[in-house]
Amino acid sequence: MFNTFSFTLALKDFRQTRRIYKDIPKIKERAMFYPDEIIQEVRAQNDIVDVVGSYVALRVRGGRHWGLCPFHQEKTPSFTVNTDTQFFHCFGCGAGGNVFTFVMRFEHMDFVDALKLLADRVHFILPQPGSAPSEGRKHKERAQHAEYNKVAARFFYENLRSDAPEAVQAREYLQNRGVTDKLQALFGLGLSPPGWDALLRHMTAPGDISPADLHTAGLLAKGQNEREHYYDRFRGRLMFPIIDTGKRVVGFGGRIMRESDKEAKYLNSPETSLFNKSSQLYALHLARRTRAKELIVVEGYMDVLALFKAGFSNAVGVLGTALTARHVQLLRRAGCETALLLLDSDEAGTAAAQRSIPILLQGGLRVKVLQTPDAKDPDEFLQKFGPQRLGQLLAGARSHIAFQIKLLLQQFDMDKPDDRIQFAQEAKQCIAHLESKIEMKAYADEIGQISGIAPEVIFNDAKEQQEKTAKTEEGFFPAGAPRARTRSSKEDPGLREARKALLHLALTHRAAATALGGYLAPEEMGDGVYARLLAFAYENTSAPADVVSRFETAEAQQQAAEVFSKPIAYASVPEMEKSLNEMASIIKIAYINSQIEQLGGKNDLNAVKSLALRKKSLQNQYITLSNG
Ligand code: GTP
Ligand code: MN
Repeated sequence: MFNTFSFTLALKDFRQTRRIYKDIPKIKERAMFYPDEIIQEVRAQNDIVDVVGSYVALRVRGGRHWGLCPFHQEKTPSFTVNTDTQFFHCFGCGAGGNVFTFVMRFEHMDFVDALKLLADRVHFILPQPGSAPSEGRKHKERAQHAEYNKVAARFFYENLRSDAPEAVQAREYLQNRGVTDKLQALFGLGLSPPGWDALLRHMTAPGDISPADLHTAGLLAKGQNEREHYYDRFRGRLMFPIIDTGKRVVGFGGRIMRESDKEAKYLNSPETSLFNKSSQLYALHLARRTRAKELIVVEGYMDVLALFKAGFSNAVGVLGTALTARHVQLLRRAGCETALLLLDSDEAGTAAAQRSIPILLQGGLRVKVLQTPDAKDPDEFLQKFGPQRLGQLLAGARSHIAFQIKLLLQQFDMDKPDDRIQFAQEAKQCIAHLESKIEMKAYADEIGQISGIAPEVIFNDAKEQQEKTAKTEEGFFPAGAPRARTRSSKEDPGLREARKALLHLALTHRAAATALGGYLAPEEMGDGVYARLLAFAYENTSAPADVVSRFETAEAQQQAAEVFSKPIAYASVPEMEKSLNEMASIIKIAYINSQIEQLGGKNDLNAVKSLALRKKSLQNQYITLSNG
């Protein structure tokens, strides 16, 4: 093995013997505050095969785990997960990285959130830098609540399947409403026993859980007068476990089965450190699996169930609350680009749509709005008209603009000339902010048709208004928002391969890194990620999968992982030495060329000359790897 050789560096005519890379600024600065040991620990505890396997069906073939790539459409598996290297790689689309990269890309999370999710998964308590020490306790408490809820969910689930008369009744109720066994299982539906203490007794029987803990977790209620009197919060209700995208049971919704004026139809878990109904979307953990860019947002649990049953598995429910920015964030993380609001066809549904539209738009989503005609909600629509009709309805769903125009129209009488003008004026406001002129024109045509006013006039008016607004906003927003820097497309593939192979060598052979240390500075890699990789190689060596964790974005992680994606084999030490020299020289020349190019416009002849000289002198430099 090459590790047993020690490489020495012999450079003829190399005057700069100082470690030139030491000036790279703030290479260790990270956008987060978790120490590397913590990150490594979380990665080590989360085997990539387990984690990826919980999202993607994997099969073992040829010592690797294979599956359908979740990052592009494919019919035959080209997505692999490697137990040894702890990397995933798709031969189809090139996606790759470690377990963090996977979670970041799949969940649309940033590094810190992926770290938190994976830490949570293995009950690892992350230190909370910069925050109160109580955070650590809260974290523990949340994990505890999730555990209690899971036990409770299982208890309710089994109870629904028992022979108890109330269970038989509940199953009958569900069957009557079209909630099949399969659907019950998919959503983990259950039944809370009708007594006062069934859950309490079940959960405290082993003796390690106190009623007070279960009360804090939201599963028990507490008597108002008597101290320390606890009883089941949910009694005789159909139980809908609310599961988050980390697959934790964060809370419950419970429905009564006989209409009553005494009791609320639905009872939700109270706010706990784990449950906040404004930051949960019902069934998101399932809907997300469809990887649909368009998610259907409905109001009720039963609507979600009905949509899933009808084959629309891209549906999520808001839990009887107003839509919040947090919901929008969840949608976006699930890869959603368009939210299709499918709301109840009453006034409340209309009002909810109006309130939700700006929140969704602000979150960067496209919005479509639908209300079910001739049915109070999607569930009833499906009962009455079936999946096919709903499919047609959904396919014809129109943008929020059309919805707003429709609402506006209700306020005016198109038989009155003044109303027509007023309507056109106000409808124009709805389209004035549209970026796409095509879209603007299409709606101007529609408004024109409704109001009888020439569409061109409406279009021009809207455009003019847009231009005016743009002018007044110029002072606040600099023209041309900065765009994310992308890797140059005209990049030389040979250079790229040389960089990758050199980094692979430097990162896996400690001695090779030492030898290269005086010769090649990180910035000479000519790319931010590669520069940091070389600096890491010089700093120390950790496992490749840990090196990858040191980058914050999924893109950078993928680029770093690519370095390790191909095994490198050298027939002999001289062969390796030759390669190392070739690669280093290709990289160095490319760097000098780019420097010369940059100077090109500046007329700095001396600098250009000195760079040209440096390039020439490279011919006399040779890195020797000798068996010491
Ligand atoms: P069904 O009446 O069984 O068809 O249920 P649904 O899901 O269609 O309920 P509905 O349209 O009446 O309400 C929509 C959502 O609002 C429900 O799914 C609940 O999340 C919530 N909700 C409705 N009623 C109550 C209530 O009494 N209390 C609470 N906390 N939430 C409610
Ligand atoms: Mn309903």
